[in-house]
Amino acid sequence: MDLSSLFLVLIPLLTSLAVCQLEEFVSIDCGGTSNYSDTSTGLAWISDSSIMQHGISVEVENPNGRSMLQYQKRRDFPIDSNKKYCYTLSTEERRRYLVRATFQYGSLDSGDTYPQFQLYLDATKWATVSIYDASRVYVKEMIIRAPSNSIDVCMCCATTGSPFISTLELRPLNLSMYATDFEDNFFLEVAARINFGAPTEDAVRYPDDPYDRIWDSDLIKRQNYLVGVAPGTERISTTKNIDIETREYPPVKVMQSAVVGTKGVLSYRLNLEDFPANARAYAYFAEIEDLGQNESRKFKLKQPYIADYSNAVVNIAENANGSYTLYEPSYMNVTLEFVLSFSFVMAPDSTRGPLLNALEISKYVQIASKTDKQDSTVVTAFQLLSAESSQTNEGDPCVPTPWEWVNCSTTTPPRITKIILSRRNVKGEISPELSNMEALTELWLDGNLLTGQLPDMSKLINLKIVHLENNKLTGRLPSYMGSLPSLQALFIQNNSFSGEIPAGLISKKIVFNYDGNPELYRGNKKHFKMVVGISIGVLVILLILFLVSLVLLLKTRRKASQKKREEKGISGRTNSKPGYSFLRGGNLMDENTTCHITLSELKEATDNFSKKIGKGSFGSVYYGKMRDGKEIAVKSMNESSCHGNQQFVNEVALLSRIHHRNLVPLIGYCEEECQHILVYEYMHNGTLRDHIHESSKKKNLDWLTRLRIAEDAAKGCSMTTFMVHKS
Ligand SMILES: *[C@@H]1O[C@H](CO)[C@@H](O)[C@H](O)[C@H]1NC(C)=O
Ligand SMILES: *[C@@H]1O[C@H](CO)[C@@H](O)[C@H](O)[C@H]1NC(C)=O
Ligand SMILES: *[C@@H]1O[C@H](CO)[C@@H](O)[C@H](O)[C@H]1NC(C)=O
Ligand SMILES: *[C@@H]1O[C@H](CO)[C@@H](O)[C@H](O)[C@H]1NC(C)=O
Ligand SMILES: *[C@@H]1O[C@H](CO)[C@@H](O)[C@H](O)[C@H]1NC(C)=O
Ligand SMILES: *[C@@H]1O[C@H](CO)[C@@H](O)[C@H](O)[C@H]1NC(C)=O
Ligand SMILES: *[C@@H]1O[C@H](CO)[C@@H](O)[C@H](O)[C@H]1NC(C)=O
Repeated sequence: MDLSSLFLVLIPLLTSLAVCQLEEFVSIDCGGTSNYSDTSTGLAWISDSSIMQHGISVEVENPNGRSMLQYQKRRDFPIDSNKKYCYTLSTEERRRYLVRATFQYGSLDSGDTYPQFQLYLDATKWATVSIYDASRVYVKEMIIRAPSNSIDVCMCCATTGSPFISTLELRPLNLSMYATDFEDNFFLEVAARINFGAPTEDAVRYPDDPYDRIWDSDLIKRQNYLVGVAPGTERISTTKNIDIETREYPPVKVMQSAVVGTKGVLSYRLNLEDFPANARAYAYFAEIEDLGQNESRKFKLKQPYIADYSNAVVNIAENANGSYTLYEPSYMNVTLEFVLSFSFVMAPDSTRGPLLNALEISKYVQIASKTDKQDSTVVTAFQLLSAESSQTNEGDPCVPTPWEWVNCSTTTPPRITKIILSRRNVKGEISPELSNMEALTELWLDGNLLTGQLPDMSKLINLKIVHLENNKLTGRLPSYMGSLPSLQALFIQNNSFSGEIPAGLISKKIVFNYDGNPELYRGNKKHFKMVVGISIGVLVILLILFLVSLVLLLKTRRKASQKKREEKGISGRTNSKPGYSFLRGGNLMDENTTCHITLSELKEATDNFSKKIGKGSFGSVYYGKMRDGKEIAVKSMNESSCHGNQQFVNEVALLSRIHHRNLVPLIGYCEEECQHILVYEYMHNGTLRDHIHESSKKKNLDWLTRLRIAEDAAKGCSMTTFMVHKS
């Protein structure tokens, strides 16, 4: 095995070890076309081609020639000031991370201008990216404590050119690194991280820094960057190990170099982008010179004057408890100007000038509210139901720019006021979380393939316009729909809703279209009908009761007067209609119920007594049909007597008053030519009353039996007997 093949074996081995350690690092080469591992760091870079659908990969022309692999291509997004382009990175909630986006544009095509656009982290404005140097890698770093299980890094709102990005990196931090008192509400945007006394212009980062922070060399010369102004500033370094285990764990390599103000002063000037602002500032000191027995290094911060800090004497060896040990004083919250001038001045009793190994300054950036979580849940659910919608929207639904099919309020947190998803091929059921979208004013879901029932919308008190037409929605329209206070228009035509339409939808001034829902009916109409029906029914019953009592009253009166007349021996006779006469001897018969029928009429009806349908001891029964079509049974009494037969008259009177379930109604009689004839209603198959009320065996009595019973009841039988019989 020669040397080169040994390397071939070793390199992947080392690389895979590194990858194992760093599996939590996320390194995205935006615009890159392949996955690879960086030979200088061993970090694994992945192409964004599988995670970013927008924009195009553009070759970067670097005027300086050489460039790292991840800066050979960039991703350019469309110029569309209304849209944002977001990468979503998974995080562990409440863990601290360093998020880094870098931008190298390369040479401009002739006639183009360098891009300027906005960078957002979730809803929080991170930075304005302004490119003015083709070969420079612009680095934006944010230290965050992850607010949830993912973060969005978004480019948007270009003022010139088109938004682009070169790399996106996520580096988890360890323990309480970069913890602040304000991290619930503020991110830390890194403004400066400088390695003083660096041997070269190269930045220190992974693997020297296990957290892959970028420690810029103080040797870099560029506009607005660090300028040392104190004479006698010298660079020192050591190869000895430095104990860095305090809070922020700066890399040993950074701590092994420093600058010293040999003439008693260290002074620098530095521009801080996006300042003045409140900042977190860290100074890193480690004594890396071997001081003599009676030597000391004591100094104070002179500029900027910060009361407590400027009065305190920095004595590194004392503060750090020895040489080669990190001392890390920091300022939790200090207001700094855009141009930061700072200087350390030797204390009068110090033998050595001030020393500085490294410096970090981060700006507090207030975390902006993302869209109300419940609102987000609903629109995200809709997005998942529609293939078309999910490809065009990422990040937060409302900020920095809203998704193309939602409108948002300007409140904190932003709330979704409109969902406009007409004809977007949305399939499935409407998320039940819709019930919590209290700010919603318009819901346009028409022309989709939505199924299932409506979610609870009773809390959506701001809802004005609802378009659900041309879907496949089912179920009932809940009754609260009619009383949603703001509802102005509801369109549900061409669905499969069923049941009763809530009254409020029709009675109120709501534009309501429900055509094409065959199983939906106007409940209130039916209800109205029912009310009318019931009222009419009640009226009819009342009327009947009134009439019945009237009849009863009349009857009792007549009875009473009849009694009186009988007592006085007076009998009246009245004729009302030709051919029909009231019973002689009294007004016992009910008018129009039992009448005198002439023999000739009966002869005609019975075809001269030709159709005999029964015979008994009492006589023969014939079938007949009156002129008016009424079918009758005609019973002719056997013992014909030409004498006026009072008994017969009494019988008729009694029969006519008896209404019994087993009796056939008597409709008339005939007393002519010495014949006594009773005329009954002819029953084909029992009486109507039988059909309705009867279940007893008596129901099946034939009508001849009924006649017999009737006669039994009539022939001298007293009312008492009848009553017993009845019960
Ligand atoms: C790169 O790696 C990622 C994740 O490991 C994978 O999803 C993607 O398909 C890879 N891309 C290429 C171009 O190989
Ligand atoms: C944190 O970092 C320190 C120093 O790099 C290391 O010793 C320790 O194991 C780390 N802790 C965790 C939880 O990663
Ligand atoms: C920093 O101090 C300023 C002034 O005292 C205060 O207004 C601010 O809330 C503090 N915190 C941050 C994160 O700015
Ligand atoms: C150390 O201190 C002693 C007495 O205070 C003095 O004589 C000597 O010169 C000092 N040495 C150095 C290197 O300053
Ligand atoms: C300082 O270091 C010494 C030995 O290096 C040790 O004995 C002492 O306890 C330390 N003091 C503090 C305050 O840590
Ligand atoms: C609402 O969103 C539509 C696009 O869906 C947009 O055209 C309109 O301007 C937005 N209205 C408001 C008030 O934001
Ligand atoms: C009803 O909806 C279906 C499906 O959305 C659509 O194809 C059809 O044209 C609609 N009918 C009417 C009358 O709008």
